[in-house]
Amino acid sequence: MRKLIQVLVSFAFILCSVNSAKILGVFHMPAYSHYQLGDRLLKELAARGHEVTVITPYAEKNPVKNFKQIVLTGAIEKLQPMKDKLFEQTESTVIKSLVWLEVMGLELVDSTLSHPNVQEFLKSNNQFDLVILHQFVNDAFKGFCHYYNAPCVVLSPMAVPCWTHAQIANPDSPAYFPDMYSDPAFDTSFTQRFLNSLLYVGIRLFNHLYAIPRQNEVMHKYFPNAPHLNELYYNTSLILVNSHISINSAVPYLPNVIDIGGYHVKTPKKLPIDLQEYLDGAKDGVVLFSLGSNLQSKNLPKEKRESILKAFSKLKQKVLWKWEDETLPNQPPNVKLSKWLPQSDVIAHPNIKLLITHGGLLSTTEAVYHGVPIIGIPIFADQEKNIALAEKSGYAILVPYKQLTEEGLSHALSEVINNPKYRANVKWRSEIMHDEPIKQLDKAVFWTEYVIKHKGAHHLRSAALSLSWYQYLLLDVIAVVILIIFVPLFVIIKGFKKYCCQKKSIKQVSTKKKKN
Ligand SMILES: *[C@@H]1O[C@H](CO)[C@@H](O)[C@H](O)[C@H]1NC(C)=O
Repeated sequence: MRKLIQVLVSFAFILCSVNSAKILGVFHMPAYSHYQLGDRLLKELAARGHEVTVITPYAEKNPVKNFKQIVLTGAIEKLQPMKDKLFEQTESTVIKSLVWLEVMGLELVDSTLSHPNVQEFLKSNNQFDLVILHQFVNDAFKGFCHYYNAPCVVLSPMAVPCWTHAQIANPDSPAYFPDMYSDPAFDTSFTQRFLNSLLYVGIRLFNHLYAIPRQNEVMHKYFPNAPHLNELYYNTSLILVNSHISINSAVPYLPNVIDIGGYHVKTPKKLPIDLQEYLDGAKDGVVLFSLGSNLQSKNLPKEKRESILKAFSKLKQKVLWKWEDETLPNQPPNVKLSKWLPQSDVIAHPNIKLLITHGGLLSTTEAVYHGVPIIGIPIFADQEKNIALAEKSGYAILVPYKQLTEEGLSHALSEVINNPKYRANVKWRSEIMHDEPIKQLDKAVFWTEYVIKHKGAHHLRSAALSLSWYQYLLLDVIAVVILIIFVPLFVIIKGFKKYCCQKKSIKQVSTKKKKN
């Protein structure tokens, strides 16, 4: 009987401690693809009984159980002019785009924290057991974790760049670890390792000397009692990474870095009737052209648009284009326009031949998930790296934006449509993506609850976090080894020389004496 009560009590304890945690999610980016990542995980946590609050620009139309929103009204409209100019990013350099991202990130952090709805929320008396932060040039949000004295989980929208790794001291040697800004053709040759090392040191210094101090300043503006950001930055419990071994390189992960790439893909829903009929009736197949949710293809320069249309008009396949306007000048008869598409569900249709994409990680993941080859036209951020990797793995062709011409695109289209290697390779990658012991979403939920259950799971912290950089690189040890080897050697050589010289001088003295 006592045993039974014990079991019941501990069962109830488990239910209470994990089943009804209070979780705050901060997914402030006015970019739907970024929000989608948080939304998928947070709604699942809510469905499993947790009380979830999320700070977001995307208001829910209908109420969701256990799911409360603090809506950043006006944020989407405010960022739109910047998004309309995204194609200009193809002209950027690494340094320019680092600064561009950081400046944009800081502005978004500041406008989020100063938003009246967030201010009101901070003043009302809330408590949280966990904070889940979107990880994207927003380290000032670590202030939320301190404010609520709750463990911090971050969700990285991309295969982890070194600015994210640093907070948990994950091994990321530039000898073999590509960064978001690495040369897309990165390999382990001397030149590439040399350049990648320079880049790595550059980004780490940039983060340390430029980004963190600025983020710290913004954090203190809204969380005046927080310690220096350095203390909070290195106190992250867990990194959930929107990446998967089927699409990214094999690199080391500490136990508190968890790959969950593919988790955002939902079981395909029924398509709207017109779309379903259109796809079913395409006996030669359909090419899907979509530049994601941030880039709008209606902002493509006219000359690029014309080249694309000419290449499309030569196809016997149908083309479904996510186009954000009512009309498209010179629209060929085989091209169908749609302002919005349930992208993943469309890709899942068996008649889809290939996806033409900007190479965002969500689109790339969806293509691999459903086994559809890719033509990538990368524009900014990690897109070029994603497509270059896919091309290396033999299921994509990269068409650089600057070389986006009718001939270039036609060539890529005929190659991917007619050469069976692309489909075979992506099918294999797809199999790898699905070859997991548990579903990626369940994995994400498990580790999130794990952090709550173990009060921050600090046993997962790497000892490397307590080292300074020269200790981590063993420079002090190497220095001592050099001393141990070279000091005696030096003493011996010096002694030997002295001995020889003395002998010589004695000889000289004695010969001098003789002469006298
Ligand atoms: C680090 O996080 C833990 C919870 O995971 C918290 O108890 C601790 O106070 C945090 N440290 C700092 C300096 O905020």
